[in-house]
Amino acid sequence: MKIKISRIVRLSTLVCSGLLAMSVQQVLAQEVGDHQYTSEAIEAGLQVYTQQCALCHGPQGALVDGINLRIGQFRTVQSDTDLRQVISEGAAQGRMPSFSLRADEMNGVVAYIRAGFDPEGEAVKIGDPIRGQALFEGEGQCADCHRVRGVGPRTAPDLSNIGSIRTPASLQRNLLDPATALLPINRPVRLVTRFEETIVGRRLNEDTYTVQVVDSQERLRSLKKVDLVSYEISDEPSKQPTTLSSDEVADVIGYLLTLRGLE
Ligand code: HEC
Ligand code: HEC
Repeated sequence: MKIKISRIVRLSTLVCSGLLAMSVQQVLAQEVGDHQYTSEAIEAGLQVYTQQCALCHGPQGALVDGINLRIGQFRTVQSDTDLRQVISEGAAQGRMPSFSLRADEMNGVVAYIRAGFDPEGEAVKIGDPIRGQALFEGEGQCADCHRVRGVGPRTAPDLSNIGSIRTPASLQRNLLDPATALLPINRPVRLVTRFEETIVGRRLNEDTYTVQVVDSQERLRSLKKVDLVSYEISDEPSKQPTTLSSDEVADVIGYLLTLRGLE
């Protein structure tokens, strides 16, 4: 049974490399300087996946126990480098076979998985979480504003659980284009009370009668709306797009995806 499956796989490798006439150079050229995989790569990946992976993993990527390729649930894989390694070296004593794919096929299948199997989707590169953590705490200056696992200031959202609530695409958007990624609740606010106090800060919560903010001194304030004489919500994002390179952004995203609550 095992042998039969790997024969089918090999046969489809041949069929497939004939079908994919896209040049390697073309794909590489498209990748350079790009923050994400191209839609051409995702299209190419759909073909590789259908012919070489769907047999075991299923058209929706969920047929192997404990793994769901479409939603990014793996056993050991975290970064794109890990993903490429598992595909080219195999795993679990060959139950996951090794594949020798061309560069364009490999880029394609990784892009297709990272785009959530959606040819129209946005495939975000996911880099190395260890390098990402160093960038988060160092050059990226993220830790100057964000708190993670009990360490850091409270002036920006706590990111300890960000990996389980945001997709790679929304994390990338937040870093590259914070203005469009801004959630309404996260807009900076400026409040003036009838006691003539001005409070500038970040909204945590709001209902009909009250609003809770963290002020610029990191104090949690709960204010009654009847006590406010003015309440402005800014459209200006409170942060600038990151100046990190696209590979560094991929590493930071890799790190953010590992932040899944306080284990
Ligand atoms: C012959 C069946 C088979 C084929 C074909 C196959 N896989 Fe797998 N794959 C498996 C099995 C079984 C596992 C689980 C291995 C384990 O138990 O750790 C797996 C695991 C994986 C993992 C998770 C590895 C980890 O440790 O997190 C990825 C990613 C993956 N496969 C991608 C692919 C891709 C991409 C293709 C097509 C190029 C493919 N597989 C083709 C059987 C297959
Ligand atoms: C100057 C302070 C500041 C810096 C530096 C900063 N951020 Fe932010 N970040 C914010 C604020 C304020 C928000 C909430 C408002 C918004 O989305 O713009 C936010 C939002 C976020 C969110 C979305 C949170 C959510 O709940 O969806 C993520 C993810 C994030 N930042 C990651 C980072 C990373 C990674 C870096 C470093 C590359 C970074 N930030 C640098 C202030 C900052």
